Amino acid sequence: MVYLGINVSHGASAALMINGKIEAVFQEERITKIKNFNGYPKRSIDCCVAYAAERKLKIDIAAFSTRVSDHFGLKYPISHFFTVGDYKDFYGKEYYSRIIQKKSVKNYLKKLNNDKRNSANLYLNYKKINNSNYNNIKIFNNLQKNMLVKQSRGLIKKILFLDHHTCHAYYALYSIDRKLIKKNKFAVLTLDSIGDGSNQTFWIFDNKKNKLININRSSKSELARVYKMVTLILSMKPDEHEYKVMGLAPYSKAKFAQDIYKKVFKNILTVKNCKIIHNKRPRDLYLYLEKNLKEFRFDNIAGAAQLFVEKVSSKLLGQIFSKYKIKHFAITGGVSLNIKMNKLLSELKFVKSIHVAPTGSDDSLSMGACYFLAKEKSKALENIYLGQNLFKNQKKTSSYIKKYFGNKKFVVRKNISTKKIGELLKKGEIIALAHGKEEFGARALGNRSIIANPSDYGVVKKINEMIKSRDFWMPFALTILEEKHKAFLDNSKNLSCEYMTMGFDVKKSKVKKIIAGCHPYDKTVRPQILKKIRNESYYNLIKSFYKLTGIPAVLNTSLNLHGNPIASDIHDVYKVFLNSELKYLYINNNYLIKKNIK
Ligand SMILES: [Fe+2]
Repeated sequence: MVYLGINVSHGASAALMINGKIEAVFQEERITKIKNFNGYPKRSIDCCVAYAAERKLKIDIAAFSTRVSDHFGLKYPISHFFTVGDYKDFYGKEYYSRIIQKKSVKNYLKKLNNDKRNSANLYLNYKKINNSNYNNIKIFNNLQKNMLVKQSRGLIKKILFLDHHTCHAYYALYSIDRKLIKKNKFAVLTLDSIGDGSNQTFWIFDNKKNKLININRSSKSELARVYKMVTLILSMKPDEHEYKVMGLAPYSKAKFAQDIYKKVFKNILTVKNCKIIHNKRPRDLYLYLEKNLKEFRFDNIAGAAQLFVEKVSSKLLGQIFSKYKIKHFAITGGVSLNIKMNKLLSELKFVKSIHVAPTGSDDSLSMGACYFLAKEKSKALENIYLGQNLFKNQKKTSSYIKKYFGNKKFVVRKNISTKKIGELLKKGEIIALAHGKEEFGARALGNRSIIANPSDYGVVKKINEMIKSRDFWMPFALTILEEKHKAFLDNSKNLSCEYMTMGFDVKKSKVKKIIAGCHPYDKTVRPQILKKIRNESYYNLIKSFYKLTGIPAVLNTSLNLHGNPIASDIHDVYKVFLNSELKYLYINNNYLIKKNIK
């Protein structure tokens, strides 16, 4: 059977499953170059349809991963062009508050309609949606359906609309190691902002019956919404910069963060019967937070918001353990990107294992839709290097290299060994890596990465000046070889973390060796614990560095220009290399390209 999964929303994507295995997944942002593209993923679908057509396959079912789309977000994709100031007006006086007060937003919507910055090609004719039919689900769904039929070259036999959180849950389930799932009962939790009316669901996977059973759903779990609003109140972009709030949280003083938590956050939500619900949730959440956080310092606000998410989520897991005696957990949805929360949950005494799917935000729903359709016929997600290839035709690598780098600006060297790259890293050089198919998700995992020697703290400043311009408090990540990681990281529960989904403490004696890949303040890491089988060429490169230095790890950050999506094809890689101060680019484990800097 061939399934096409489609996510139409923030993080638009399309995935293709053939006989239970995800063979391809494309993110619209990588193709359109609009970060977190919000809308219909036309070009990602084109890539999946082409993949099926090349193999002379028909698509048995194409499924959208949400039944009732966020009409506002689709018609007005404000995330494409809103500044922080626009967002503050939106939540403050122009839209969110007015809706709560049941005041008209007609004029504001008119203004949005005429906003010239709203110029991205959204593929679908949302002009057909007006005040009289705005809430008509059928119109929205038919726009999507008709477009899909039009672009699918007659390959699709059937089209369905699936439940958002069921897609999330199936994605989480099929990204767990099958050996683990066969032996244990799992609680699967989905935590997000909102999708098909829910923002938290709890499921039990009964390993004996091989069945995923839904226990409850909540529409009142506002962990994501509160965190989003705090992000904005700290003058960062909501739905994008939440990770910066998380990175800021460790700088807070525990006493001050506790104090703010108690005064402002504690009573917003509670957990009852394994479900997150409202407690004394203020009617206008944004105005409440804005007013009550006014007098506190930014780092302590971040610490308090983090504490809030950790307290509520650990209470939820605690109740599930008490009632069902389940010790194994899988988490997905946007909230699961919070690696600091995941770390804390993994440390709870009763938790034997916690599994966090790669990029559990809505981007992964296209895969979730496929897993939902295939159910027990699904094969677990292992390889996530499933996106665009570096070159359209891999056989013509040398002609691409000549086309892009065959001029005076560059020096090209062929047949470069990983040992040579290891030597450059040891000397403190920073290397851009581009190899084969791009990795799915928010994290660079070695195929579109920038790497450096993690024992040299000076590289942090160098990388920031060359390309990244990261906020001063933010850490870089680390890739570490699986068989060596326990000598460096505290992982007594033997947790799997192949996709940078969880934080870990570093053994005190080893901090110095990987300092540039640690959080600058609390010295934790967000690792990609790399198995040879997942990415052999990247593994071999790190091994070469290890042989020279005794350090089985490299600092790893994504290959992109500040504020842009991760580089996808060779054209993007060329653009990033050309428009940054990066000096070295290592392509397909063969070519080393150096900028001809005088
Ligand atoms: Fe979601």
